[in-house]
Amino acid sequence: MSNTQDRIPLKARKVSFSWDDTPLHWVPGDPFTTHTINVLHLLLPAGERWFVHVYKQVLPYIRDERLREDVIGFIGQEAMHSQAHDEVLPHLREQGLDPTPYTAQVDWLFEKLLGDRTLPPGRARRWWLMERVAIIAAIEHYTAFLGDWVLGAEELDRRGADPTMLDLLRWHGAEEVEHRSVAFDLFMHVDGDYRRRVRTWATAFAALVFLWQRGARFFMENDPTLVDGRATFKDFYVRGRRGTLPATGDMLRSIPRYLSRTYHPSQEGSTAQAVAYLAASPAALAAEKGAA
Ligand SMILES: [Fe+2]
Ligand SMILES: [Fe+2]
Repeated sequence: MSNTQDRIPLKARKVSFSWDDTPLHWVPGDPFTTHTINVLHLLLPAGERWFVHVYKQVLPYIRDERLREDVIGFIGQEAMHSQAHDEVLPHLREQGLDPTPYTAQVDWLFEKLLGDRTLPPGRARRWWLMERVAIIAAIEHYTAFLGDWVLGAEELDRRGADPTMLDLLRWHGAEEVEHRSVAFDLFMHVDGDYRRRVRTWATAFAALVFLWQRGARFFMENDPTLVDGRATFKDFYVRGRRGTLPATGDMLRSIPRYLSRTYHPSQEGSTAQAVAYLAASPAALAAEKGAA
């Protein structure tokens, strides 16, 4: 179960962003960093919609009231994340970067490949549901990792990254840190099988690496301002050293942590840091004002 001191009621903040003043290369002079982070806008709308879709089906299996509340809060937050990232896409399109060829594939992946499949009620259907719950727990290990990273990524500020984009990333990142235990607690509650955790981690990790490098390459190749846009692992590694993207070593070290039998997401990231950001985030503050 989640760490009691860290537990806070989860609420969706109804944020909105205006992208009018955000330049195409919102990390000035660094299209590679810009587009590597932009991949989030390609994956998250369909991915987080899929989380919500799966979690609605798992609600009847939850026999713990507190966990149920957490899952409902989680669903509200992820639905808002999905929408917020989706709203960046028209802005990219206006700047000559049409993401449709890529998002069409991502939609197929989440809706068809990872969708409900026509299974009779019973064991097979339950197996497939538990498999997806475990995949979500593995993905949430990475969303929490990235959230924690972006909250502390001061190099982006130093390089003059667009404040609106940073606020989107950090509002989202902070909520990822805030709810980082929910998916894992849910998986442990309804199943928790260790072999399943390892197997689905491998699937999720391979898929994320594959989709991410393809997405970065897609943006670099289709960026209308770049003549010979490429994305290589070396580009990624160098940005990691510089601090504008996560460091490769930190990412590798997070793998055995998730696979450890004593893993719990409460050991990762800082709720205090996330809450502090949300208390100062322009978008979160505007959302609060709107709600009041
Ligand atoms: Fe999210
Ligand atoms: Fe999340």
